Amino acid sequence: MAIKPTVKIDKHMLDMLRDRALHAAARAYAPYSKIHVGAALLASDGNIYTGCNVENASYGLTICAERSAISAAVQAIEENRESLIRAIYIVNNKLPEIPPCGACRQVMFEFGKGGIAFFDGKKAVKKIEIDKLLPEAFRL
Ligand code: THU
Repeated sequence: MAIKPTVKIDKHMLDMLRDRALHAAARAYAPYSKIHVGAALLASDGNIYTGCNVENASYGLTICAERSAISAAVQAIEENRESLIRAIYIVNNKLPEIPPCGACRQVMFEFGKGGIAFFDGKKAVKKIEIDKLLPEAFRL
């Protein structure tokens, strides 16, 4: 059964998330791809947690902005972690569109029940329910 998103994000909150994501992107460590990604996450405690991508000379060790923000929120919130993400906004400095990668979708699935993901699209901001980001997500 589809899970209805429980969150409504108004324009003010959306602007705030975008602004915080841009600030996070400015702190990215991306000397290899030069793509600076930032994510701002509105968590179940009402706070905003941010993350940026952190690359490595051993490329596969790169941490995406989304998972970096999720790690910060998990550290702060102990309860009901399955619906810890109410909204997450993702931006970058280079590409017209930055949908979250598969690994991040799997991680968002575990913490984002009922939440919404926003990312900059080619023309407008794209909005998608986290529960729909990864069909047949892996679960134990
Ligand atoms: N990246 C993210 O931070 N999030 C995504 O969802 C997709 C990709 C980063 C990883 C790498 O540092 C750069 O973007 C180029 O792939």
